[in-house]
Amino acid sequence: MSLTRFFRFLCMAPATRILKCDVQAVVFPQGTDQPTVSSQDTHDALRTAADHLLSGNTVVFPTETVYGLGALALDDKAAAKIFETKGRPPDNPLIVHVSSMSMLQPLLPSDYTFSPAYQVLMKRFWPGALTFLFPRNADVVPTIITAGQPTVAVRMPSHPIARALIAVAQAPLAAPSANISGKPSPTRAEHVHRDLDGKVAYILDGGPCGVGLESTVIDGLHPDGDIRVLRPGGVTVEDIEQALRQDMSDKTTIPRVLVHKRDYADETIEAVPTTPGMKYRHYSPAVPVTLLLTQSQSKTIPFQDYIRNLLQNPTPSSAVKIGVLAPTDSRIWDQLSSIVQQVEWHRHDLGPSDTPPVIAHRLFDGLLSLEQRGVDMMLIEEVLEEREGLAVMNRVRKAAGDTVAVHF
Ligand code: TXA
Ligand code: MG
Repeated sequence: MSLTRFFRFLCMAPATRILKCDVQAVVFPQGTDQPTVSSQDTHDALRTAADHLLSGNTVVFPTETVYGLGALALDDKAAAKIFETKGRPPDNPLIVHVSSMSMLQPLLPSDYTFSPAYQVLMKRFWPGALTFLFPRNADVVPTIITAGQPTVAVRMPSHPIARALIAVAQAPLAAPSANISGKPSPTRAEHVHRDLDGKVAYILDGGPCGVGLESTVIDGLHPDGDIRVLRPGGVTVEDIEQALRQDMSDKTTIPRVLVHKRDYADETIEAVPTTPGMKYRHYSPAVPVTLLLTQSQSKTIPFQDYIRNLLQNPTPSSAVKIGVLAPTDSRIWDQLSSIVQQVEWHRHDLGPSDTPPVIAHRLFDGLLSLEQRGVDMMLIEEVLEEREGLAVMNRVRKAAGDTVAVHF
């Protein structure tokens, strides 16, 4: 690109404005679908963002899981801007976000009725980090949203700013994570700004996201009635199972909860990118990530030998700055201090290994902040695949280009 064209390009790129929102100022009074907003600035930010969306543009907003890049879900030209902005492959379907049950109804065929399991799970986890597949009303939901599939994925976010924005716009919003395709999902407004500056007009800043990784995506539409977890996420499999056990009135028809790749395989969905990472690169920072398996029983090498070996090899022997993500109680931390030559360690504590929600909350934040600190590579220690740990390891495996089994 010539210098003149480059400057013209710079001038034409819209300036991104970050609008601070006060999360505490937004409340949905019991039994209502409309928010009350007690801060004038937050009220104005929501109005500005809603108007921008209603003119067919994209806006970034916080959700309880990760920041989302939103556009009108029922307007195919607006939704197309999401794909353009993120560089998202067109065959990767989007989640539709609603603020009320009445906003959900028109998206579904008029003769569709919720299964008892769906009723229990919606009651227990909405608003929240659980996304359901529903049959789509093809007259209402554009093909671009579902990538041509007969189902539409929908969730009602619990984050006050997300839910209020949808309610103020009075329109369902399609919103993938607000990152360039393939990168870790943003959990703070500054992560989004680094990735999408100049590509969106507004980022609503509601502070750090509570959950820190994306919603759980479930499919309960199969004739056997089982709940298939396409993507583990913020709502744990254990909590879904417990809700079904406790709240289904007919205890003889409680469905099984099956996790894709752990409990079942499905060649049809593996052939198309219906869940993140099945076809495309995902969650990868700009530098290589290695997963350290520390629970393996066989073929492990001493961690010290692994590092020594790493530093001897021509690539990445230049990796003098190494980012390390591990639980607070990991034995890795003691080992780092004894390897001082050639390495500058950048530590990111994931939190105590027995508090998986904390680990989930800190994972993407860690990948993105270590990337920002300019490390040459990252090491992530595996965590137990229980509760939120299942979603953590799902993301870590996709982020890591390399896996090595070590012992300390
Ligand atoms: O927490 C979240 O879910 C965040 C926030 C912003 O709400 N959104 C999010 O969107 O993670 P995205 O696009 O990054 O991931 C949604 C995934 C898609 O990659 C797709 O694989 C799956 O949900 N999905 C969407 N529609 C589907 C469908 N009809 N069938 C199967 N999977 C679907
Ligand atoms: Mg994503």
